Formats: sequence, structure tokens, C-alpha cells
Amino acid sequence: MQLIESVESMRAISVQAKQKKLQIGFVPTMGYLHQGHLSLVKKSVEMNDKTCVSIFVNPTQFGPEEDFDVYPRNFARDFELLRECGADWLFYPSGESMYPENFSTYVEVEGITKVLCGNSRPGHFRGVTTIVSKLFNIIRPHRAYFGQKDGQQLLVIKRMVADLNMGVEIVPCPTRREEDGLAMSSRNKFLSPQERRAAVILYDALQLLSGEIERGNRDGHGLKLLIEGLVEKEPLARLDYFAIVDRRTLREVDKVKGPIMAALAVYIGKTRLIDNIWLEV
Ligand code: PAJ
Repeated sequence: MQLIESVESMRAISVQAKQKKLQIGFVPTMGYLHQGHLSLVKKSVEMNDKTCVSIFVNPTQFGPEEDFDVYPRNFARDFELLRECGADWLFYPSGESMYPENFSTYVEVEGITKVLCGNSRPGHFRGVTTIVSKLFNIIRPHRAYFGQKDGQQLLVIKRMVADLNMGVEIVPCPTRREEDGLAMSSRNKFLSPQERRAAVILYDALQLLSGEIERGNRDGHGLKLLIEGLVEKEPLARLDYFAIVDRRTLREVDKVKGPIMAALAVYIGKTRLIDNIWLEV
């Protein structure tokens, strides 16, 4: 696996591969990799001639009070894991090369970025769409892989690619979970053993919800109260939001019907965790 640290070399390498008519798959990450990230990498390796993975902890998607400075990093371990998965290129640019002095252009998707995580983290998706656009422009992949774990992010990226005719195929990948159901996340590392046990509440809430919907409950408001009540019972958890939304608009539904996403964000101690499920009702 080749380590590429400059924007110019990354561009040159991908141009060369494209001249050889090779298909390029791309997996953007912020590193501290786990099996969730690696499942995306493996899928890209299967589907493409070359797989590029980026590791870049993107400052513009973190709010001023958020965990940018303490976001976990372990480059040596990430490198080894990616090599074992069969990735071809690891793009690992510096902060200064991605955001040089006088940087002043941002990409912003409207509407669907203002609800759910966008409501709790103003500016977050603007940072995500800006860095992903930059990475797409540098690497020019045929396909890019995104986890359903960050369901709203996936939908926002799809919207951006369609709206701006980016011509990158977005491949959604299922959420990888720990044995007790907790969605894998780099941030799980922040949890104390007691918090780790409490964190399963996110999965429990989604399980309770899908069970209720399966039994025929379609009352959006009632279901919301039920889930809020469940999360309240966990003393280490504080609900940021829970919502059942139409996946096409991200508007909350009164009646559970059509393609929906049920998503929640919960603080476990100081750590904010998210999870979601997609259902066709
Ligand atoms: P990061 O949180 O590192 O996640 C990188 C990719 O891995 C995302 O597409 C995310 O949805 C996926 N992923 C994370 N946990 C997963 C899990 N348990 N199962 C399946 N996929 C999972 O998301 C970002 O980085 C950034 O916002 C980024 C897109 C790189 C832009 O900076």
C-alpha cells in the first residue's frame, strides 16, 4: 500500500490510473479505524481495481466546543489494518494542505442539513460536504463508500452528488455493530466501562421501535414518547434527539409510512453517540 501525503501526488496517481482505465473506489475516513470502516474498504476492494482510503480529521466539521482536539488517532495501527484489507492508496494530507491560508470556498446542502444532527451541530454538514467535495476533486473516484451508521450524512452526500452532477456513484454500506448491538464508532473509545454498558440504550431504543412498528403501531408521536421514556430510564444517558423521518425529505412523520429513518443522538456522559435504522413501511 502506497502512502500519499500531498495533494499533487494523489492527483497524479489517480490520473495515471484513470488513463489505464482502472476503476477507482474511495473510502473517506477520519481514522481510528474499526471493523465498520474496514467493511467499507473491503467492499471497495471487491468492486474496484484500485481502492483509495483517506484519513483526515476534518476541522471544519467540528464545532468550537466539540472534540476535534481529542478525536482519537492511531496512524500506525490504521496503516497496518488498511494494508491487510488490500487498500492500494492511503491519502493522508496535512491540515495546511487541505485548508491553506485564504481558503474561502464551502459547499452547502440546504434543507436536509438543518434537522437532526444538523440542528444539534450547526455547520457540521457544511464541513462534511466541503471536505468530501475536495477529496472527490482530488481523487476523482468512480465510486465512494459511506456507512449507513451516519444515515443523514449518507443522504446529504447523495443529495450533493446529484445536485452538483459530481458523477460519483455513492455506495451505501450497512452499520457494523458490537455483539450487544452498539454501533461501532471511533468515539466508543471515550466510554468508561460503566458508560459502555449504558451505551447499548441506543440500540435497545431502535429495537423497541422496530418491534412496535412490526406489530402495526404507526403513530409517530406515540412512538416518539415511548422511545424518549425508555432513554430517560438510563441514568447515564441524556437524549439529544430522537426522530422518525421520511428518508426523502428528512421531515418528521405523523404516520409511519413509506421509506423512513428512525434516528437518535444520545449523550452517554460527555460522549455523543448516534444510531439509526431504515425501514420500508
Ligand atoms: P468517520 O466517522 O471516520 O467514518 C468514515 C466512514 O465510515 C463513514 O462513511 C461512516 O458512515 C462509516 N462508518 C463509521 N462507523 C461505521 C459502522 N459502525 N458501520 C458501517 N460504517 C461505519 O464520517 C466521517 O468519518 C467523516 O464525516 C468523513 C465522511 C470522512 C468526512 O470527514
